[in-house]
Amino acid sequence: MDEKTIQVIVCEDKKDVGFKAFRIFSDAIYSNPETVLGLATGSTPVEMYKQLIALHKEKGFNFSKTASFNLDEYFMLASDHPQSYRYFMNDVLFNHINIDKTRTHVLNGVCKTPQSECQQFEEILFEQYGGVDLQLLGIGSNGHIAFNEPGSTLDSRTRIVDLNQQTKKDNARFFQKQEDVPTQALTMGIGTILEARKIVLLATGENKAEAINDAINGPITPDVPASFLRYHPDCVFIVDKDAAAIL
Ligand code: GLP
Repeated sequence: MDEKTIQVIVCEDKKDVGFKAFRIFSDAIYSNPETVLGLATGSTPVEMYKQLIALHKEKGFNFSKTASFNLDEYFMLASDHPQSYRYFMNDVLFNHINIDKTRTHVLNGVCKTPQSECQQFEEILFEQYGGVDLQLLGIGSNGHIAFNEPGSTLDSRTRIVDLNQQTKKDNARFFQKQEDVPTQALTMGIGTILEARKIVLLATGENKAEAINDAINGPITPDVPASFLRYHPDCVFIVDKDAAAIL
């Protein structure tokens, strides 16, 4: 695979990162209302989601034909658990726009057999919807994308994974006790993500600076899963000054 150049847009602040991402996503849905979105959780995309909600509420922007596939879900958290990613997506976006919920896909964290859940998710994504048109990504402070932790391979597909120490530490703020933090998750693989037609990664804050620099300037390696994005022909990183600090 040939290495490509990632386009990097450095913004003044978090709000501007959200706005630039919002423009890309709203333009895509405007030109093709049936756009298949790949969506991400975490605090970073929330600003963009707020702007999409405002566009719907103020201008009647139509999401009724748009479909979405989320990157990941905690294993063993049901959709009505406030920290589940299904709950999060409903709360920060889907409940406030006119998207058809049957076209929003989030892996089922309480499935009986993770392997068949993950396989079915990919079948629906690729066979029924033709794959992701526009993929949104955040990045973990350890360089993970979705829940592809360091060690994940280029050809990995949607699967169940163990979360590493750093991720459990980063996510602990959302749970009351350390013991409540999930230890496993279902996640799209690196290979799955790289099949999206366009990828937009957002990062804000100084705790992402090292991961961003490693992804762009370090070796392409499973140690930094986001570095594999350099194999994608249409990938843009939108980062604030703090996340760009050591580039
Ligand atoms: C979780 C998610 C990732 C996300 C990351 C960063 O680990 N699985 O998809 O990119 O958090 O979250 P935040 O944007 O809150 O820093």
